[in-house]
Amino acid sequence: MVPHEAVLGKGNNSKQIKRAVLKSNGESFALKSVRLPQDDSEAICAIMREVHNMHGLDHPNIVQLVGHFMQNDILYLQLKLCGSTLRQHIRKDDTERGLCTILPWFEQLASALEHLHARSIMHRDISSTNIFLHCGSTSSLSLGDFGLSKKLMTGDDPSPSSSSSSDGSSCPSFLEIQPRRLLSDIGTEPYMSDELRYSNTYDARVDIYSLGVTLLETSLHPDQQRELGSIVSAFRSGDDGTIDPQLVEFIRWLLGPCDQRPTAKEILEIDAFRRDRTAVGGTATGKISCHHLTGHLQLKT
Ligand SMILES: Nc1ncnc2c1ncn2[C@@H]1O[C@H](COP(=O)(O)OP(=O)(O)OP(=O)(O)O)[C@@H](O)[C@H]1O
Ligand SMILES: [Mg+2]
Repeated sequence: MVPHEAVLGKGNNSKQIKRAVLKSNGESFALKSVRLPQDDSEAICAIMREVHNMHGLDHPNIVQLVGHFMQNDILYLQLKLCGSTLRQHIRKDDTERGLCTILPWFEQLASALEHLHARSIMHRDISSTNIFLHCGSTSSLSLGDFGLSKKLMTGDDPSPSSSSSSDGSSCPSFLEIQPRRLLSDIGTEPYMSDELRYSNTYDARVDIYSLGVTLLETSLHPDQQRELGSIVSAFRSGDDGTIDPQLVEFIRWLLGPCDQRPTAKEILEIDAFRRDRTAVGGTATGKISCHHLTGHLQLKT
């Protein structure tokens, strides 16, 4: 692996993401590096959680973790290389985005969430900065940055008491991480649902709320996107602002009280997204015709 000069981005906790090229075949990756703190096992486990939770995920709309390794107390995550983040894309592009652009993105993200939630994983940090365009495409997206993800304990889960990191040391399994950490450690304003902010109990529907905020954001003009927090508050208080009338009811469904919010599976079952998924190997990458979208957001409430 040859680290390339190009820094793709800087993350929290001294994380750095560089472009790297595999010597053997010249393939490019994003290499995310993070120094493991020596004497803070909780912090180490939080960092390892990203690896644990991404491991084994295989979905066209989830950034693929190709591998990971340790070198001199630095953990490296080898990730499939993506293009710009969704935020970078929608902030620089001030052409009006119609439903035909937004809804296929949204369907891909709902499909990614269905995949995650079926595996009892909550992402907990869905935002336009953690969603990436595929290289060379503006129509395909992947969900990334699993740094705050959390695997829920269910009756079906294997419950290992410990797991080994790639340097051979063992740390408590991600299943044992305290469910409630500092508020500042969970989520990103203004994508956080009320229960994620204020309650000790929440479930995968926190991701649906964040997805709803992201959908609202993508429908705004770049100048308005900077006011996302106040626009979301106003929208929740009944002010539709400039949101496309066809999206208003839909977004309200996603931002509603958690017991009335749809699951990712239910979202994919609405008429706008019902189509022949078998055409492209059962994935969400198939084309949706505008005919199926415009004016046909039939919600099953
Ligand atoms: N797979 C990728 N391909 C291209 N660029 C990437 C990729 N992953 C990350 N980046 C770039 O690096 C930036 C930070 O990445 P990421 O969101 O994963 O880190 P982070 O926010 O620090 O994570 P964490 O929340 O775990 O601390 C992104 O905004 C993006 O610019
Ligand atoms: Mg991030």
